[in-house]
Amino acid sequence: MAIVPLLSRWVGGTELKHLPKLKIIANCAVGHDNVDVVAAELRGIKVTNTPDVLTDATADLTWVLILACARRVLEGVELVKSDTWTGWHPEQLLGIELKGRTLGLFGAGRIGQAVGRRAVPFGLRILYTTRSPRPEFERATGAARVEFGRLLSESDVLSLHAQSVPETKGIINADTLRQMKPGAILINTARGDLVREEALAIALEEGRLGAAGLDVYLDEPAIHPRLRAAPRTVLLPHIGSATREARTRMAAIAVANVQAVLRGDPPLTPVFG
Ligand code: GLV
Repeated sequence: MAIVPLLSRWVGGTELKHLPKLKIIANCAVGHDNVDVVAAELRGIKVTNTPDVLTDATADLTWVLILACARRVLEGVELVKSDTWTGWHPEQLLGIELKGRTLGLFGAGRIGQAVGRRAVPFGLRILYTTRSPRPEFERATGAARVEFGRLLSESDVLSLHAQSVPETKGIINADTLRQMKPGAILINTARGDLVREEALAIALEEGRLGAAGLDVYLDEPAIHPRLRAAPRTVLLPHIGSATREARTRMAAIAVANVQAVLRGDPPLTPVFG
């Protein structure tokens, strides 16, 4: 027996107890925080995800958010649609130029690195924080690995690309937001629970942060009402991997994992072991 859950479906230890024939949970996502991986491992159930095939789609969407925040794209769209645009003005909707600024990557796995590689032609300096260094990424992009404190204080754009694990949950909170550069842009296409939503809303309300571009939230589809109402946000409905190509490949990998495990072969993309 196999389960192919979507990321919105929690698969917990209690459910697993009632499924003695379950051999594999083939999560149709790269993140797997919706699966009790420890309970599965203890029961000998394989857990797989869909890495690689959504890296480019998610990195592209991260850049949609970076550019939309830097150039106040939503405010521009709203101005035109509201029919109150009175014409070109030298100080209208001034954003920031990316060239020469610093992009900070919190996490530089597949997606973080793909976001960093796209930063090179924009002329951004790249800093990143990871547990272990990424020498090839550094060679390809000139990125420098720094402590989290420096990432916070030097990034003009801080983009989150870490998994949701106990050490990363709430990593962007009232305290760390205060350490960010005034006017900086926060981007999150990873997992919503990395960010304390109310603290972020307050930083935006107070004008300490320049903008926030988010694709993920703590309690999807709910969004903290204060964050939904906060100024200078670009809020998307968790569409990082939403291209036809990526979603087709994600489904194909999930099915291939199920087929492999049910015929007794090792899974293609296990999340442990
Ligand atoms: C999407 O968020 C994924 O983890 O695949």
